[in-house]
Amino acid sequence: MMERLRKWMFSLQGKFILVASFCIFVFTLTGSLIIISREGKLYRQDFINQAKVLSEISRLMLTNVMVYNDLGMMDKQDVIDYFDYYIVNLMEQDKRIKYVAVIDDKGNILAHSNIAEFGHFCKDEHAIKTLSTLSTSIVESRFKDEPVINIATPLNISTKNWGALRIGLSTKEIQESINSLKKERVLIVLFFSAISLTIISIGAKVLSRPVIRLSSMMDGIKTHGDLEQQFPAFKDRRDEIGELQKSFLWMLQRLRDADREHKKTVEILGQTEKMVSIGRLASGVAHEINNPLSGITLCFKNLMEADLDDSTKDRLVQAVNDGLQKIKKIVEQLLDFSRMSVTEKTPVGINDFISRLLVLFNYPASKKEIKVVNDMSGNIPKILIDENKMAQVFMNILINALQAMDMGGTLTIRTRIDNGFCTISIGDTGIGIAPDVLPNIFDPFFTTKDVGEGTGLGLSVSKGIVEQHGGIIEVESTAGVGTTFIIKLPIT
Ligand SMILES: Nc1ncnc2c1ncn2[C@@H]1O[C@H](COP(=O)(O)OP(=O)(O)OP(=O)(O)O)[C@@H](O)[C@H]1O
Ligand SMILES: [Mg+2]
Repeated sequence: MMERLRKWMFSLQGKFILVASFCIFVFTLTGSLIIISREGKLYRQDFINQAKVLSEISRLMLTNVMVYNDLGMMDKQDVIDYFDYYIVNLMEQDKRIKYVAVIDDKGNILAHSNIAEFGHFCKDEHAIKTLSTLSTSIVESRFKDEPVINIATPLNISTKNWGALRIGLSTKEIQESINSLKKERVLIVLFFSAISLTIISIGAKVLSRPVIRLSSMMDGIKTHGDLEQQFPAFKDRRDEIGELQKSFLWMLQRLRDADREHKKTVEILGQTEKMVSIGRLASGVAHEINNPLSGITLCFKNLMEADLDDSTKDRLVQAVNDGLQKIKKIVEQLLDFSRMSVTEKTPVGINDFISRLLVLFNYPASKKEIKVVNDMSGNIPKILIDENKMAQVFMNILINALQAMDMGGTLTIRTRIDNGFCTISIGDTGIGIAPDVLPNIFDPFFTTKDVGEGTGLGLSVSKGIVEQHGGIIEVESTAGVGTTFIIKLPIT
């Protein structure tokens, strides 16, 4: 599950959806917050304006009453009664008003929504300050656990001041409106983000589908390596994806052509190689059989002569026999090479088997001061092999190794179990094999040795025998460093 999520996140589609969602969410949220804060400010400004209008109207009414009092048209008690009546009326009309206080020019409270305050000196600095500044001012504070805006305004006409009026209006309501506006906006943002995301996801899927298809087609070619597989036709598109599809098809066609061309060349090369091998085989057979045959013919010619003594006759018959034996051996080897000869398999402990063969090499190895390193794994079960034939294989590889090394050097024999196969590697530190020679060493009659030293049948016969046993033979060699032959035989 986590793996699939990771894969999706790193896909083109996943990256696009994630970046788009992030942008939509962040930008719409930031935009909404900016709008909310602006709207909040407007709400507040509107509220303050309303408070100012209210205080201004009240100021005019109350100042009039003060003037009447000064002119003797109303006595002090009437003024106070009027103020009380006015305050009660005002508070009833507007529930946002939390208190109203009217003070005289000395700071004594003439009227107050809280009757207990009446007649006391006003302790509120904001109201007292208004008596000297003669200007309206606004401060914010809390009144009985509610946020309020306090507006203090002088009751004056020009420089004649009778006192001040202070009104406290609760901002709880607008605060609540701003909060619900915020909630509403966040919900709207979430809702539209979800819709946009759904549309983007569908769009991304639709847009990326052809690209994913192209990519899976390329993946298919990469995994199966089959350029010839047929793909369903693309829908004709006029956009960039259409161009990409066309380029892909063009590229695929080019690759197919190049691949066919390559296969043809390899086939021709293979044919040429085969012809070369057959030529080498034919001339090898001819050469190897011709030599003893010429000898045999010569012996026969001599035998035909009448006056031969018995010992000469015996010598000639022996020579004819030797020649025939040589031819027989070559024919037998060719049969092994072509895997036509019969094998008699018995269970054999491969370590013991190789150790017995190695005894034969102790003397020639010590003569050349070659160190033999035995690194045989102890847990190899018996495997089914034809001992005689397999002896031929190891003898040839060991002889080759000894021949490749001058004085000194190391011959390393290693046996291991590997993936159901018994692996036997024989490494030498000899002259190595040049890269241009390496592909030919398993060809019959291929030899780099001097005439009479090697027939060039050793490795080709060994390969045939190993393959007869269901195994494989490989070689790793670096010219001037050494060669290692690896034989893998199945453990049945
Ligand atoms: N261990 C080795 N180091 C270097 N070259 C090698 C080694 N083994 C094989 N070769 C090369 O591979 C050639 C073919 O080997 P192969 O055993 O088939 O024939 P040969 O040894 O030349 O003759 P034969 O085995 O018939 O006597 C050799 O002539 C030699 O050039
Ligand atoms: Mg050989």
